[in-house]
Amino acid sequence: MGGPRIIGHKAGGRWAEGCPLGADDAEWTNRSCEVGRESLVGMGWPVKSSFVRYVASSGGTCAVEPGADFSSDWGLVFDPEAQDVSRETGEGILAFSGAVTFSAHMGMLRVRLAHPTLTLSGGEGMIVIEHGSAQTRPLANFRYAYSCTDVDARWELVDVRLAPDAVSLFGDVYEAGEPLDSIMVRLLN
Ligand code: HEM
Repeated sequence: MGGPRIIGHKAGGRWAEGCPLGADDAEWTNRSCEVGRESLVGMGWPVKSSFVRYVASSGGTCAVEPGADFSSDWGLVFDPEAQDVSRETGEGILAFSGAVTFSAHMGMLRVRLAHPTLTLSGGEGMIVIEHGSAQTRPLANFRYAYSCTDVDARWELVDVRLAPDAVSLFGDVYEAGEPLDSIMVRLLN
């Protein structure tokens, strides 16, 4: 599958084709969870709009690795990888593949979000990401609403907030509890 696909280079003030940052003056909007929900399969997450705008305005890049891709509705979509969840309650663990790396300031800023895994229980949960080759680190906490039909299962993650262990990932700029963008997860039944 090859290495990372870098399609976020800024060219002539706009981001190159393929990266939704280019669509609207480097604006990667956190669209409503209503948008695109029928077509989404996986974990749709714009990450944090102000951070993405900042990277774009710093002339930075955003690179995706296989399993993650840019989406005009979601900013980023991570493909489903493994799951151990109750379809009745929505509780359990959902793992996703792929990775995204934001880079700027000649490599001084490098934020890699790889293989997000959600633990879901009682309407609350946590995202962990891969850290190094064999470790994980907490990224954020959230609340969620779950719904399931014959067609699909959906988790709508809101109040997504930076975990204390992830503060250093963003250069200690954000405090623990900093709001991140909402997340939509949809799996087909
Ligand atoms: C040469 C190095 C750097 C310079 C000159 C720089 C400059 C800046 C400036 C001017 C802002 C304010 C942007 C605004 O409010 O519009 C900012 C915000 C920020 N910087 Fe840097 N920065 C540097 C390195 C880093 C590094 C290494 C990180 C680590 C990941 C980082 C993470 C952030 C974050 C998370 C924000 C807040 C973005 C937001 O949500 O508004 N920066 N930086």
